[in-house]
Amino acid sequence: MPSNKTLLLLPGDGIGPEVVAQVRRVADWMAKNRAVGFDLKEGLVGGCSIDKNDSPLTDETMADAMEADAVLLGAVGGPKWDAVDFAIRPEAGLLRLRKDMELFANLRPAIVFPALADHSTLKREVVEGLDILIVRELTGGVYFGEPRGIFNLPDGQRKGVNTQVYTTSEIHRVAAVAFDLARKRSNKVCSVEKMNVMESGRLWREEVTKLHKEKFADVELSHMLADNCAMQLVRYPKQFDVIVTDNLFGDMLSDEAAMLTGSLGMLPSASLGATDATGKRKALYEPVHGSAPDIAGKNVANPIATLLSFAMMLRYSFDMGDDADLIEKAIRRVLDDGVRTGDIASAETAKVSTSGMGDHVLKALDSLAR
Ligand code: IPM
Ligand code: MG
Repeated sequence: MPSNKTLLLLPGDGIGPEVVAQVRRVADWMAKNRAVGFDLKEGLVGGCSIDKNDSPLTDETMADAMEADAVLLGAVGGPKWDAVDFAIRPEAGLLRLRKDMELFANLRPAIVFPALADHSTLKREVVEGLDILIVRELTGGVYFGEPRGIFNLPDGQRKGVNTQVYTTSEIHRVAAVAFDLARKRSNKVCSVEKMNVMESGRLWREEVTKLHKEKFADVELSHMLADNCAMQLVRYPKQFDVIVTDNLFGDMLSDEAAMLTGSLGMLPSASLGATDATGKRKALYEPVHGSAPDIAGKNVANPIATLLSFAMMLRYSFDMGDDADLIEKAIRRVLDDGVRTGDIASAETAKVSTSGMGDHVLKALDSLAR
């Protein structure tokens, strides 16, 4: 028997605890039915950690994250913490996890489930069958660049500064992940920057081109300016397979891509570090949606993005592709059966609660595993 996998759950704020609770149920199901045990540990991140510890992420929880085989995070933030010091805002906990675990590659797939094609704000024919993957650089760029800060000027004005900065190796390692993943998909990568305005964008394009020539010439590579990419994503999104881009553009373009699928409540993500000598890599999985404070605690949030994030964990951290497939299939079946949380419901469909959606997924797992 392989030893149990240690999994750190960080439910966080807002709807985080409700959606992560559904993953617990699926993990229990797997332990019972698929002979894979998880040692689940739970910790605080974000506002709930500020309330208890005056810090959005304690050193102890950071250490737990470093030790775990994988981390699953719900969401952080909310208006309750709007007034806390910028340095210890809830989001700082998430950013520290990303930075200290060196999770430089953020995978954000946007897949349109057939049952939801009419739910997108775009026409069915534009989004039907869509399956794209945004690979966002996650530990560099303007999110972390120095100098940064708000400075007082001698004339009494203030100056806000952030720095967009990338090095060759930072560009190469994230582009390599994108090329590798493209090989297992439709073999196309579109690299996105603003080389018409920014030197960092110019370097990005040059280095991606160089790496492509050296190691990934079999993959089809194109380049696009970020503003054009934003437009192309709503004009003709199916032209894309894998998009690789920097931290800030990736943040924006992935929200845009998410909405193509009908709801932000459907989108999972994986944040991966480098593979070590033993083949292991640090990883954090989280739904792309935020803490949705307006619906928190009401048992109405859609847990699918978090369940799909758990499936990504099985695939990328534990090489359990079959089990990941099973969860994805169960979710597909539930959607085909017309089961809907509020965010994906239409006038004709009844709404289920967060835990109700969990019930349906477990039932579908039961019948698929039979
Ligand atoms: C995301 C979020 C985060 C980001 C916030 C919560 C710091 O928008 O994961 O896309 O900007 O990266
Ligand atoms: Mg974002």
